[in-house]
Amino acid sequence: MDTYRSIARRQTPTHTGIEVTGSAGSWGFIVSPLLASIYCPRLLSTNGCWGNTLQMGSVERLPIAQITDSNQLTFECAKTQGLAWDLGVFYLKAPDSLNLAGARQFGREILDPQSPFRDISQYGELEGFISLENNQQTKLALRRHRWDEHYPAEIANFGRELDLVGMAIIQEVFRQSGIPEPLWGEASGGYATGEGTAFLNFVHYDTQQPDFGLRPHTDYGFVTILDATAPGLQIKLDGEFVDVPVITDHLVINFGEALNFITQHSEQSVSAIVHRVTSQIASDPMRHGIVYFANPDLEGELKQFNTEGAEMGSSSVTDLFARLEKDLTT
Ligand SMILES: [Fe+2]
Repeated sequence: MDTYRSIARRQTPTHTGIEVTGSAGSWGFIVSPLLASIYCPRLLSTNGCWGNTLQMGSVERLPIAQITDSNQLTFECAKTQGLAWDLGVFYLKAPDSLNLAGARQFGREILDPQSPFRDISQYGELEGFISLENNQQTKLALRRHRWDEHYPAEIANFGRELDLVGMAIIQEVFRQSGIPEPLWGEASGGYATGEGTAFLNFVHYDTQQPDFGLRPHTDYGFVTILDATAPGLQIKLDGEFVDVPVITDHLVINFGEALNFITQHSEQSVSAIVHRVTSQIASDPMRHGIVYFANPDLEGELKQFNTEGAEMGSSSVTDLFARLEKDLTT
């Protein structure tokens, strides 16, 4: 664990270059879905930590969190929460109320070339039915204010359930940060108090194209919630890409650059981890996924506060994203 923590700490202050080199390596905590299904319920039901090294026998893995009935994000203990913050990634047990099966079914239906949802025209560069350049990923992407217009009602509701998950995660980040609560909304451009922007995207891959599923990058926003049906996601640790296995009924959460920015002068900052999706060429069945992005409004402002409530810095969202874009190496 300490190795992972020190790796993450070394990543934290930089966030300048998003390296695209590096080969996939093996990772000590790779855990099969079967092992996870055996071990995770026991771990989730305990109030204590499972030791200093995140060991499950000889298996190690990412921290796992859940959301309580009062919509609060909780980990097994402070140690695993701290590791999640340092790494910038963790598993979240999918809330029982979340209609994951229905949303997955909707995502699979979009694979049909005749699906009317493939005809949704683009709104700018980020919304609509989009094929990414230089990646295999194809997606139907819509911001929150268009969900009711284009998504079936149950999918729009699914998005609003993820809004609650995103809020729970961000509010826990603020709680741990020590930033005074009255400033949470101002710091996050409104997201922590129910505003901001959210995307609900359904993604799949062009398995004929010889490219990455998704090239290495960090996410720009606050929080990304991922439901993937097959392996392929990798995160970068100590210069090596390692697999993030799929665990049944668990989502993968990662933090983005905007959340790193607004917590940088607080008691506990969060990292934005570099990740990618491996090539899905000729994969069968096709990997598909649901991705929710909790983001600031593009027109908004982000503020950095310390635990005394003093403003330590600020940036318009467009300026921050432009700096990140400039630092992106391809
Ligand atoms: Fe991403």
